[in-house]
Amino acid sequence: MAAIIVVGTQWGDEGKGKIIDILSRQADVIARYQGGNNAGHTVVVGEEEFTFHLIPSGILHPGKKCVIGSGVVIDPQGLIEEIEELEPKGIAFAGRLFISDRAHITMPYHKVLDRVIDEKRGKGKIGTTGRGIGTTYMDKTARVGIRVCDFLDREVLKEKLEIGLSEKNDLLRRLNSHHHLDSEKKMLDEYTGYAERMKPFVTDTSFMVNEAIRNGENVLFEGAQGALLDINFGTYPYVTSSHPISGGACVGVGVGPTRIDKVVGVVKAYTTRVGGGPFPTELEGDLAETLRNAGPIGEYGRTTGRPRRCGWFDAVVVRQSAIINGLDCIAVTRLDILDRFSKIKMCVGYEYGGRTLREFPSLLKVVESCKPVYEEMDGWNEDTSGVRRFRDLPMNARRYLEKISGLAETELCMVSTGPGREQTIKVKDVWRP
Ligand code: IMP
Repeated sequence: MAAIIVVGTQWGDEGKGKIIDILSRQADVIARYQGGNNAGHTVVVGEEEFTFHLIPSGILHPGKKCVIGSGVVIDPQGLIEEIEELEPKGIAFAGRLFISDRAHITMPYHKVLDRVIDEKRGKGKIGTTGRGIGTTYMDKTARVGIRVCDFLDREVLKEKLEIGLSEKNDLLRRLNSHHHLDSEKKMLDEYTGYAERMKPFVTDTSFMVNEAIRNGENVLFEGAQGALLDINFGTYPYVTSSHPISGGACVGVGVGPTRIDKVVGVVKAYTTRVGGGPFPTELEGDLAETLRNAGPIGEYGRTTGRPRRCGWFDAVVVRQSAIINGLDCIAVTRLDILDRFSKIKMCVGYEYGGRTLREFPSLLKVVESCKPVYEEMDGWNEDTSGVRRFRDLPMNARRYLEKISGLAETELCMVSTGPGREQTIKVKDVWRP
């Protein structure tokens, strides 16, 4: 019995979906704690590929309970669509999906405003996913948001919509946007329908997860995005609006830090980023293209389809992440993508103003002027896809993983050598104390 948090350690897209899927086998409850349908977790089961945006990927395991915690923002339309896509594939939701009554709702105006506001930023565009994530969290912190419990009550929803719509129309006018929002009546009718669909799943999930922990069940907390997109510790303002870091699991599900046993960090064997913002080890040209297109699943955003920016492994990022997340161990993913490189570089520090920095700077213009300090290693030029034992990896691949673990000052627990469930090396049993 344990409570384990899984976090992304870079800029998201580390392959958390697969790691969570593997760990879910031994979990009783899987709880998502932040973000919304900006996330896209892919899990490959046999020939079939599943992509999750809001629903915890643990739903693939029959009998497991899946929770959408209060720290998540829910687009009801997106949620219902996701359920309707998964149901024909044989996935059952009744008695297995639990939605927090305190999570906040993304309305159509949040999506419109997200896009309009990001466009207005011009050169400083964040490159958001356009899913209304930041604008929903804006309303939440401004204390004018709509929570799931409000959403289920037609009268409360009507009242909140009246205020919300007039405020948002005003804002759109001031932003000189030509966007037109649906009438309150139309929105109310459409969204009341979604509320009816959601109702059977809604409960006090904090109570439920705490009960599960008290009863000795295994609980897995599923983070979306990554530590460098955290609103506090990421590359602000090029971040998401929630807390992907491990602390976010406590506030996002409503469990105390004393209840958590372990934090697992998912680390991609190189680095990617989608959207704007600094990326010190970013590559261009052929090297970036090779990283982007090697392997069965290319580096393209699951939610927006945008090509991901690609670069070498950055130890400054991962070390920072290990500290702020309090990582106990790391799961390294997409090792097989590096199979085709004869030389592999790792960034071990940043050169700035004649000094070598080991910590990630807070000031954006400093990050932008940092030059990565690289160490170069020989590659292994061998197919590692599907290797299942650490000792069966080529010597240089083992060295590379040990180097990552050393730089992150965190022990290695898993390695992923391909998208399939079986393409996994278990170095340590994560569920063991
Ligand atoms: P937002 O979360 O849509 O507001 O986008 C803010 C930033 O986070 C943008 O750079 C997005 O590309 C990035 N982002 C949001 N969700 C993900 C994700 O799941 N993976 C990678 N990047 C993400």
